[in-house]
Amino acid sequence: MLKDTFNREHDYLRISLTDKCNLRCSYCNPVDLPKGYFAHSDKMTAEEIDTIAGIFVQLGIKKIRLTGGEPLVRKDAKKIIRLLSKYPVELTITTNGVFADEFIQDFKQAGIRSVNVSLDSLDKEKNKAISGRDEFDRIFQNINLLLKNNFQVKINTVVMRNVNDDEIPRFVAWTKLEKVHVRFIEFMPFSGNAWSKEKVFSYDEMLKLISLNHNFIKLPDERYDTTKKYAIPGHKGTFAIISTMSHPFCSGCNRLRLTTDGKMKNCLFSKTETDILGALRKGYDIVPLIKQCVWEKEEMQGGQFISRYEQLDSSKINNRSMINIGG
Ligand code: 5AD
Ligand code: SF4
Repeated sequence: MLKDTFNREHDYLRISLTDKCNLRCSYCNPVDLPKGYFAHSDKMTAEEIDTIAGIFVQLGIKKIRLTGGEPLVRKDAKKIIRLLSKYPVELTITTNGVFADEFIQDFKQAGIRSVNVSLDSLDKEKNKAISGRDEFDRIFQNINLLLKNNFQVKINTVVMRNVNDDEIPRFVAWTKLEKVHVRFIEFMPFSGNAWSKEKVFSYDEMLKLISLNHNFIKLPDERYDTTKKYAIPGHKGTFAIISTMSHPFCSGCNRLRLTTDGKMKNCLFSKTETDILGALRKGYDIVPLIKQCVWEKEEMQGGQFISRYEQLDSSKINNRSMINIGG
């Protein structure tokens, strides 16, 4: 079991398959962000991902999520999904949905039951403005295709004030008709994403807005939940809020991350990284490195946001951009 000094047990690993994406979401991979992709030789091969994942599983990992960039743009994504399907873990994926139709059978064969799809607007034009690409129709069709194929579909919606906060009611109305689980995410600061505290539309504000039109019931939190979940009587789906900025949930964090170049991060906001791939290629035992990395985990938010987010100076944050970490 991978325990840290705060007695948190880590059984959830997020693996970034690539730092590339076919979209340009303003908060993650803005059009003007210098790209500087990792060289092919610096990235983990499918076999290396398999080997490293296998070692994490031996150390107690019970859930693996594939992320990116956009994981499905990686040419050997199908092979990786197949390789990882042999482990006794819950395998899941976060995708922008554009290529999901090409993967339905692969997901099924690998035992993937739940898919997270990023979608920040239900309006085609606004979606294009936020994501930098005109893919709304295909994404929306693919969400419906996933639902038809009985996948659990969670929608990740990053809420930014004066950009898409006005769409919250529309997303909530969607959950009446479809069995989608919409998760509203507070806007987080990363290198190059023009974050400001004014753009954070907070958990409290979201609940207040939704309460204007709906009565909702709080669903119980699971032990390591990052979301606060709600149900509205009569709705097929649910909504939830991920309150990273206003109500951090670090005390229950069970997550570890592996970037596409094989660096381990013990927190989304960690300043330091452990070079797992480099060690593996040199033939070293990576188990002590993994354990050490977990042991060094800071109590909250990589030790970076000690003050309240309202007082945060985003220029002082030291991190990769989101596309380079893997959501
Ligand atoms: N703030 C909040 N959420 C973000 N994501 C990416 N960048 C940010 C950000 N700056 C989320 C997206 C995506 C997931 C992988 O991470 O919603 O679905
Ligand atoms: Fe691509 Fe997802 Fe980042 Fe958007 S949020 S740019 S879809 S990786």
